[in-house]
Amino acid sequence: MTIMLPGAPHLARVAGALTLDGVDLDMLGRQFGTPLFVYSQRSMLDAAVAYQRALVGRPHLVCYAMKANSNLAVLQTFASAGCGFDIVSGGELERVLAAGGQPGHIVFSGVGKTRAEMQQALAVGVRCFNVESESELHRLSQVAVAMGRVAPVSLRVNPDVDAGTHPYISTGLRDNKFGVAHEQAVQVYRVAASLPGLKVVGIDCHIGSQITHSSPYLDALDRLLDLVEAVEAEGIAIAHVDLGGGLGITYTDERPPRADELVAAMLARLDARGHGHREVLLEPGRSLVGNAGVLLTEVQYLKPGAAKNFCIVDAAMNDLLRPALYQAWMAIEPCRQRSGDALHWDVVGPVCESGDWLGRDRSLAVVEGDLLAVLSAGAYGMAMASNYNTRPRAAEVMIVDGQPVLVREREQASTLFAGERLLPAPR
Ligand code: LLP
Repeated sequence: MTIMLPGAPHLARVAGALTLDGVDLDMLGRQFGTPLFVYSQRSMLDAAVAYQRALVGRPHLVCYAMKANSNLAVLQTFASAGCGFDIVSGGELERVLAAGGQPGHIVFSGVGKTRAEMQQALAVGVRCFNVESESELHRLSQVAVAMGRVAPVSLRVNPDVDAGTHPYISTGLRDNKFGVAHEQAVQVYRVAASLPGLKVVGIDCHIGSQITHSSPYLDALDRLLDLVEAVEAEGIAIAHVDLGGGLGITYTDERPPRADELVAAMLARLDARGHGHREVLLEPGRSLVGNAGVLLTEVQYLKPGAAKNFCIVDAAMNDLLRPALYQAWMAIEPCRQRSGDALHWDVVGPVCESGDWLGRDRSLAVVEGDLLAVLSAGAYGMAMASNYNTRPRAAEVMIVDGQPVLVREREQASTLFAGERLLPAPR
């Protein structure tokens, strides 16, 4: 048995067959059709427990950043493990509640919350609003007062540290749209404390995604603690510190710290600075689900050429946008190993865009009809899928106790345009 990626012990090759939680992926793809996302529930739970164990004995809440994968069964899995949720829209709030998540365990992030979303979140009683600007504070105060509620508030501070990741997913630098600038934070906390209908409960940051070192987190934590001390000196209490998400996973040769190592380093820093009593919140997304999932796809056509060989598969950028959008490298493995010569292939989808590729220059021994698995597809895969080219979105299967369970049906083309209207006939 060969483990396919460090940190992904549930994905292995056994006698030539790629397996997830011991289930043969080729068989699953034939049974449920392709493109197909397959998730290991065990892997998700193990990842959540790694964070939780490291926090035992401390007040804490691990809030799954559900934007990474918002399938109801995934949310249900994390809710049952005692996780809270980090949401960024009213739609995500509805999903969490539908999956059995507790409102009191939800933090609401995002730079552009609408009045309606604030009302929705106040009505159910979310744990906290992660507020990103002074204007948002004023709006939240008005909405809360009008509803006769008190909104619990944390300020998302931009600590101006470089997370060392892709510019599109780096969020903690001064020139990002996110959060309140570090220099202005004390002043904005004063505003928060003075407005009716608001109660300051915490401080938060999120410095980026796919971070592969602990040091940016510790730098951000130091910057946050400086602020906590300055704000509390003014008599405004800050109960919790939320360090956001962002811990990376292994796609190829990255070696990010394990969740328990990262958390231990954070707790040591909190203790060293005399803040060990504070409640710690985290908002991991990718590190809970990324390597728990794969995308299965069938080879449709092989098109060897003078300059390039194209392996045309039935999954595309609409199913998995990360390669097209971030030039992300995600491993591609045949579900069944074949003997024979490997060639270098660009694995591409059927969408009419040159940017529609899943992997470039991959050495694969394949024939038409084979199934391939794109690894590490559990995070920001289905969640970012679209219907471009009127392509119905893929089905999703979760392996629970060794058994595959269909957790989302494959879409039908007719449902994609069901809400559209033909113009009235000309008179
Ligand atoms: N908290 C906040 C406020 C966030 O904005 C995010 C992600 C997270 C937590 C979770 O971060 P994670 O642990 O998943 O890194 N689509 C991109 C990633 C975008 C991340 C956006 N924010 C990708 O596929 O790489």
